Amino acid sequence: MPIVQLKRESICYAVHNPGDTRSVLLIHGSGGSHQHWPEQIGTIDAPVYIPDLPGHGRSGGSSRSDVSAYADVIEELVEKLELAKVVLGGHSLGGAIAQAIALRAPAWLDGIILVGTGSRLRVLPEILDGLLSDQKGTIGLIGQMLFGPDASDDLKAFAERIALDTPVQVTHDDFSACNRFDVSERLGEIRCPTLILSGDADLLTPVKYGKFLEQGIAGSRLAVIEGAGHMMGLEKPEIFVAEIQRFLEQDIGKS
Ligand code: COA
Repeated sequence: MPIVQLKRESICYAVHNPGDTRSVLLIHGSGGSHQHWPEQIGTIDAPVYIPDLPGHGRSGGSSRSDVSAYADVIEELVEKLELAKVVLGGHSLGGAIAQAIALRAPAWLDGIILVGTGSRLRVLPEILDGLLSDQKGTIGLIGQMLFGPDASDDLKAFAERIALDTPVQVTHDDFSACNRFDVSERLGEIRCPTLILSGDADLLTPVKYGKFLEQGIAGSRLAVIEGAGHMMGLEKPEIFVAEIQRFLEQDIGKS
């Protein structure tokens, strides 16, 4: 995986179809890494960049406990990679980061894709407090809430391995950042084309959160993925990638 040096840390990222056309940059969720996005994402007809946030996966540096601090890192990364036009996608915490950047409206931002996320992301105290007192038990609890009914045992085991490989303080910082996040009153300020993806079996960020985003962001479109839980991209990769491709062609292509 390529590495880029930012002011405070080195950031590792996966890349598919590199080129200098409009790019898609995807931000993973709490305690995750680039591995939270499905391999099939490489079939999208655009350059796709998938970084590990600081302190996660193979990136250096340390995690942040504030969404706007992560937004600073992503903005610095886009500038360092010299990406002129970007559609920013984010899953869960990553979706909060994408909303924070959309509110800043940098010139390079062409649209956002909000996956399994909300404008407010309060976290169950059993998760937030439990991570520090009982990491394994709490990862188990989160694991029970991550998936819809069709997820395989292999997929669940894969997600658990990523969760246990992430230092517990990093995951706790991420959930703390989510717990503080609330841009519900500011959604009307988001002006870029927006796709919202929700899983109808998502227990962590229910469809209700997606509907609230759709009502608040003018011109946005919600697509509900049936039978999918919070990890909808890994659970239903073909439908997930097709929705993103459709957004790029129909909503972004004409913008
Ligand atoms: N979009 C739309 N509605 C939202 C929302 C969002 N982003 N966030 C909260 N709400 C709604 C809730 O559904 C609730 O509606 P209700 O009164 O009709 O039931 C209301 O706003 C208040 O909810 P909340 O602010 O979350 O406070 P709470 O004290 O009721 O619940 C939790 C706190 C942590 C129990 C709850 O937020 C929850 O179950 N969260 C999901 C699990 C989780 O930890 N997710 C992790 C996200 S990263």
